[in-house]
Parts: sequence; C-alpha cells; structure tokens
Amino acid sequence: MALAAREGKEKAVKAASSGGYVDERLAWLYDQVPAYVSREDVEFFVGEAVACGGGGWRPAPGPKALPSASGSPRAAVLELGCGTGRVLLPTARAGIEITGLDLSEAMLGRLRAKLAAEPEEVQRRVRLVHGDMCGFDLGRRFALITIPFRPFQHLITVEEQMACLTCARRHLADGGRLVFDVFNPDLGKLADPARRTEAEDFSGVRLADGRTARRTHRFVARHQAEQYNDIEMAYYLTDAEGRTERVVHAFPFRHVFRYEMEHLLARCGFRVAKLFGNFDRSPFTDASPQMIFVAEKSEGAQEPERTSKP
Ligand SMILES: C[S@@+](CC[C@H](N)C(=O)[O-])C[C@H]1O[C@@H](n2cnc3c(N)ncnc32)[C@H](O)[C@@H]1O
Repeated sequence: MALAAREGKEKAVKAASSGGYVDERLAWLYDQVPAYVSREDVEFFVGEAVACGGGGWRPAPGPKALPSASGSPRAAVLELGCGTGRVLLPTARAGIEITGLDLSEAMLGRLRAKLAAEPEEVQRRVRLVHGDMCGFDLGRRFALITIPFRPFQHLITVEEQMACLTCARRHLADGGRLVFDVFNPDLGKLADPARRTEAEDFSGVRLADGRTARRTHRFVARHQAEQYNDIEMAYYLTDAEGRTERVVHAFPFRHVFRYEMEHLLARCGFRVAKLFGNFDRSPFTDASPQMIFVAEKSEGAQEPERTSKP
C-alpha cells in the first residue's frame, strides 16, 4: 500500500478507536446528555485531586470540605481523555492545577470555549493538550493521573492499553497515583442478542438550540475473541416543525475483567492500592456497576517489553 494511503487508513482506524468523538455535533451533545450531566463521579475525582495535594494520600473529603477556588494551586493533576471538561473544570475550580489531554479536537474545542468563561484564576490553573494517551511526552511529572468515565475502554488492543499505562507511569511523580474507572463487565448483557436492536436511553430532552433529543443505543457487532463490541448511539434531534436529524456516534468499546486489569497494571509497573465498586467508595462486588482502580507505581519495576499482538 502507498505510504499516503496507509497513513490515511491508520488515521481512520485511530479516529475510530479514539471513541469516535470526531464530530463537533457529538461534542455539543455530550454536555447535554442527562446521564453524563448527573454522573456521580465528579465529587470522587475532585476529592482524589484535593487529597493528593497535601502530600501523602488520605481519604477524600466530602464535597463540603473541598477548598474554595481561592489560594494557590495545590496538586498537579493530569487527566487523560479530558473531553469537554466535565471533571476537569470542577477540579480547577477547587484550586487544583490540572493538565487535560484529549485526542478529539471537537471535545477540546468545547472545553476551551467553556474555560474562556471561567474566572482568570481558574483559567490559569488549566493547560490543555491535543494528544493521544497512548503516546505523549509532556516533559513533567504529576502527583495524580486520572482517566475518568472510561476513556481507557476506547483502547482496543493490548498494545494500546500498555502504551497508555507505560506513558502514564513515566509521567507520575514518586508516590503518585493513577485513578480510573471502567465498567464491571456483565457477561449476560455483553452477549445478549437483543442488544442488537435499538433501545432508548432517553427522550424529550430539550437542547440548547430549542430542538428535542431522543437517543438510542445498540451493539452493531460483537468481537468476543478480542473483547470488544461495536457500539452505535443514535441521536434523533427534532425541531419545532417536526424535522428530525439523526446523528450517530459509532465506536468500538473494549471490556476488561478485574484480574486482567490487575495483571495489566502489574505488567506496566503499578500495584493496585484500592479497587472500588462505585463512586461512593464501596468495595467491589459482583453487583458493582464500576471498577475504579487506584494504582500506585511499584518501586523498582522496569518498563514492560512490547506485547505480542492480542
Ligand atoms: C466518555 S469521554 C470522557 C471525557 C471526560 N473524561 C469526562 O469524564 O467527561 C471519552 C473521552 O476520551 C477521549 N479519548 C478516547 N481515546 C483517546 C486517546 N487515545 N487519547 C486521548 N483521548 C482519548 C475522547 O476523545 C473523549 O473525549
């Protein structure tokens, strides 16, 4: 294959595996999805950032104990896959210096616009980087690296997963922590043929431009051997005259199992300090909706050798 054609194909594959957040309409919709707006993880991640700012780690305080936005920046945090700043902005408002990295220019564009409306002291705490979490070099280290709301599951191959974890480790200060969530895989749901049919997530949501949104999701294809499904989320946007626009968010999504993730982390020089089952810090059980890993750098660990193809 000619070089240009091959590069074009690689770029297309990367765009798909970065979660499909390439369309500006999707970035605009992201901030209006009820389940994302009300997701109960912001307090958790802001709490982690605040807790790592005072030196050693301690349990995160509740929301009332969060510091005011005044005062000097505390911890330096790196958020991988920061999106439109759903977690990043509240973290910066809490007085934390934070760098956000994302592969989607559309998502970063929305974040930049929102940041411009923040007070100057909040703006000063934020640095945004357009980049791939599987290969970045920011030339500095951080007390905490977070990957909130499952961007790690947009990494489809073991090579990508290990590249991300290795990069993250290189950017962590001694004693630093990597904190991220993935969903707890439910084998019944993942294999359910009924999920090939569109199922409604929400309807009747009034959007900022006056239209009304409905969304469905379905599994388009299942790749059991490679542990990922092709997912399609369809937004139906209806205006006052009844005209409907259909906007599709299509992406492959990888599931990881608890011990697979623990082995992966160990292979990349981390040890699991905590595993929570939800953002209320409850322990991980069969019924937990999330797997939230709090990982620390293992001392003396070497960087892993490149893995074989999965
Ligand atoms: C579900 S959103 C989460 C955004 C944000 N962390 C939040 O909690 O709202 C997933 C984000 O991961 C980003 N992403 C996916 N793959 C990526 C990669 N390889 N490198 C950097 N960002 C990536 C997407 O562009 C998207 O903004």
